[in-house]
Amino acid sequence: MSQFAPVEVTVYPDDCDSYGHLNQGAFARLFERARWDVLSRGAGRASLEHHNVWPALRKATIEFKAQVYPGDRLRFDLALREHGRTSMTFRQTARRMGSDTEVLVAEGEFVMVCIDTEGRQAAVPQEVVQALTLRASRRTGATQYFTVGDVTLAVDAIGDGGAVLFIHGFPLDRTMWKQVAGTLTGWRRIMPDLRGAGLSEAPEGGYTMAAYADDMVALLEKLHVDRAVVCGLSMGGYVAFELLRRHPDRVRALILANTRAEPDDSAGREKRDQTIARVHRDGVAFLADDMMPRLLASESLKAMPDLVEQLREMIRAGRPPGIAGALAAMRDRPDSAPLLSSISVPTLVLAGAEDQLIPPATARAMADAIPGAQLAMVPHAGHLAPMEQPVNTGRFIAEFLNALP
Ligand code: MLT
Repeated sequence: MSQFAPVEVTVYPDDCDSYGHLNQGAFARLFERARWDVLSRGAGRASLEHHNVWPALRKATIEFKAQVYPGDRLRFDLALREHGRTSMTFRQTARRMGSDTEVLVAEGEFVMVCIDTEGRQAAVPQEVVQALTLRASRRTGATQYFTVGDVTLAVDAIGDGGAVLFIHGFPLDRTMWKQVAGTLTGWRRIMPDLRGAGLSEAPEGGYTMAAYADDMVALLEKLHVDRAVVCGLSMGGYVAFELLRRHPDRVRALILANTRAEPDDSAGREKRDQTIARVHRDGVAFLADDMMPRLLASESLKAMPDLVEQLREMIRAGRPPGIAGALAAMRDRPDSAPLLSSISVPTLVLAGAEDQLIPPATARAMADAIPGAQLAMVPHAGHLAPMEQPVNTGRFIAEFLNALP
């Protein structure tokens, strides 16, 4: 069964009947809103519209288990139980969220059948099943959800100890850190999906480096973390610089992995605009083939088919608003080079010896410009050192973390 990011709603007084409980008709509408929320995000809705079909409800079974009142916060979880040629069966649950308890208040099963504009049964487009299944496969056992400002972010948090915030690159998600984080016992490892990525919400707008950085700080607050070691890869590094600029007191130390301080030049900005236009026109799948040869070292491309497949799946699970938003945020990011000489926290610059996007010389120059920074060059790694060489990368990071004052 495939599980999706939950949807949270507050019960309004006008959802309730004269006895003051959530009315069953209004409850059914909330179930529908939560289903719509999942279907309307990302490739699912675009493909349905492209094929001129829409899923109509054929059968609904809801079992109400407890009373719900105005002001209650409900969390709706949805899972795709099975699908046939024209139908999809979803299981949904609604839980009342207390400060430390959750109560199952209703559960239901909903059979949806795809129909065309004439109301005839039609095949569920393959991309829809694929998009729903891919999004669900991005969940891990440790995933939690936190609403910060206008978005809900998905976060994997494991272990206890000093906090390390891992920020992923583009067009990836938090799971890129999984293997490296697994080696760093003794640390509280926090791996969020940035807004628009992975299982986090992907609003239509609001993507800037400042928004990403503010989201991260709001998330640290939710997790009661005052200061964290901030470890960002590539675009995650751009976010780390912004965090340092906007919230320096939150940064205990920095790990700048496969990243650069300089902004895009005019050719780079033009390329971002072209890619944004293509994402709006064709969706995100083309990025997998487009970027793969530059993301991995040629050795990894040949010898690591599982990694190539994992990356392909991760990239194709992206949603156009989040991907286009990240491209715009990178295009407009400020120059962080003037910041380097004033960095006063311990810093590790991590580079891939075969990185084509951030050549080793760029990483070396950045390390030289940061007072006291260490440089670690990961052999046999391209732009994604933590995924291509997790053991070596984890060892460099562990040595740096364990030497922190
Ligand atoms: C990344 O890996 O995050 C991107 O390649 C960064 C970029 O496009 O500047």
